Amino acid sequence: MCGIVGYIGKRDAVPVLLKGLKTLEYRGYDSAGIAVLSGGKLSLRKRQGKLSVLDASLRSDPLQGLLGIGHTRWATHGLPNEKNAHPHLDCSGKISVVHNGIVENFGTLKTQLIQQGHTFRSQTDTEVISHLIECYDEGDLVQAVRRALKEIEGTYAIVVLHKNHPDQILGARKGSPLVVGVGGGEQFLASDVLAFFTYTKKVLYLDDGEIVTLRKNRIAIQNFRGKPVHRNFHRIEWNVSLAEKGGFPHYMLKEIHEQPQAIHRTLAGRLEEEKLSLSFEKKLSSSLLKRIRRVIFFSCGTAWHASLIGKYLFERVAQLPSEVDISSEFRYRHPIVAKDTLAIPISQSGETADTLASLREAKEKGAKVLSICNVVGSTIARESDTVLYTHAGPEIAVPSTKAYTSQLTALYLLSVYLGRLRGALGAKEERAYLKELASLPRRLEEVIKDRHIQEVARECGKRYHTAANFLFLGRGVNFPSALEGALKLKELSYIHAEGYGAGEMKHGPIALINEKLPVVCIAPRSETYDKMASNIQEVRARRGIILSVATKGDPAIAKYSDHVFYIPEVSELFSPILVVVPLQLLAYHLAIESGCNVDQPRNLAKSVTVE
Ligand code: M6R
Repeated sequence: MCGIVGYIGKRDAVPVLLKGLKTLEYRGYDSAGIAVLSGGKLSLRKRQGKLSVLDASLRSDPLQGLLGIGHTRWATHGLPNEKNAHPHLDCSGKISVVHNGIVENFGTLKTQLIQQGHTFRSQTDTEVISHLIECYDEGDLVQAVRRALKEIEGTYAIVVLHKNHPDQILGARKGSPLVVGVGGGEQFLASDVLAFFTYTKKVLYLDDGEIVTLRKNRIAIQNFRGKPVHRNFHRIEWNVSLAEKGGFPHYMLKEIHEQPQAIHRTLAGRLEEEKLSLSFEKKLSSSLLKRIRRVIFFSCGTAWHASLIGKYLFERVAQLPSEVDISSEFRYRHPIVAKDTLAIPISQSGETADTLASLREAKEKGAKVLSICNVVGSTIARESDTVLYTHAGPEIAVPSTKAYTSQLTALYLLSVYLGRLRGALGAKEERAYLKELASLPRRLEEVIKDRHIQEVARECGKRYHTAANFLFLGRGVNFPSALEGALKLKELSYIHAEGYGAGEMKHGPIALINEKLPVVCIAPRSETYDKMASNIQEVRARRGIILSVATKGDPAIAKYSDHVFYIPEVSELFSPILVVVPLQLLAYHLAIESGCNVDQPRNLAKSVTVE
């Protein structure tokens, strides 16, 4: 939550910072601010609201400088207003700080600092950092920052700009992401490479407990004990178009359409000509994976839904007993984790605080960790024993779409791999799975381009955007699809929605059904098709409005449905990847009809880096 940027170099810093913040707005968007240094003067501009408000203010009254820092906020401590927007200054107005994370002991520190005579301007936890740096400011900025950070408990990524040090900006991290972009005669710092990858593709990932000093032509990293650190560069492979809207009105719609390419990238190099070749780094050799007796998945939100599907796959395909936790619950249930457990955190961002904390807990208890992440070099990826990257490309819209289908693809790959390794899969069965897996990008493309699906989604958007509630029902491997459909709808359109296993309907939710309730029934051909068809009739009998997802060529469902989304024939285990598309489009159109901001729904942030 919150996006931070820093720039030092040869360009006018303000446009660079604003452009960077624009790409980071997915991390928070309730207020924004920048500070720049020029001619010995530190200038600050902050505004409540979206970045566009700050942008407008800077257009009418510009600031200039060749170095600066910026922030886009998702409020944790203090209202989202101008005073609480970052950067935050010390008493002298020389030191400015942007911060992503939470200073947990800020109450105690603030009281002490006030007793020492410091004056606070905001209600934020962040402001203590600027005042602490001020306390230790004796001319050496790195030392002052290091001493200040020693007093801070919690998580942070910070960028610091000091009026008396016009040749440098400083960054430091513990628990929140911070990446360095290395240019020629210019350097960048940001929460995410997206903020600077149009300027440079050369990056350095900082580790927790490190401070970086950026000068125009030099980068120095040291740890919190003051020891220099050597770090190798990484090269980002994305092309710029991945981070642009490319003619679509919203990132979300673009990312829905990108799903076939995204899952193609997940499969690339791992499944070629229906042959599987997966291998993991040393720490997770195939002989070690063979000895795994149990799997624990943990994740949040949409990634949790992918994990739920992972459980079905792992038990069915690899015959591996599996359980799934919501990351925020895992640690607090004091889980028993045996040494032969494989923990699988799933996270698009690789920075979700609860998933990271669960990973650490599982590791400490002796589990091996294989994470499924999208963002290369993210904290979860780096702290895992090994990682299966999804390579979906940057996902910018807050609602997750292509990250989800590529997580499912990674799970298909992994379940077949483990099934083969453990001898749970016969050669014929394996071939059949791989054939189906290889055909997924093409089938997904077919669904996305299907005019009928698009029209039904648009029409339902028009008809039902004023509905107060929605119910989503699914069975088996599509029970998590029902949860995902409901989550997409809630976060995008603010319509209350519940996802249920259809078998649970008679245990309570059936009481909700009346002629005003749209019920989305996920009923492709499956083992439980007949049961689902009965559930649809039960909804019908209570005059619910039925929107079904069914297999092409199924005439029966249409008889009892008001609207049907037809998807191509696919085996049950692979159906969630196709089923989700109409659900994504439905949520999108319902939100658009209500005038909601689909890329940046209210109160949300793309990456939840605080608990
Ligand atoms: O980055 P992560 O995959 O760890 O994020 C997990 C959730 O925060 C995320 O999936 C969230 O639920 C999405 N906004 C849902 O669309």
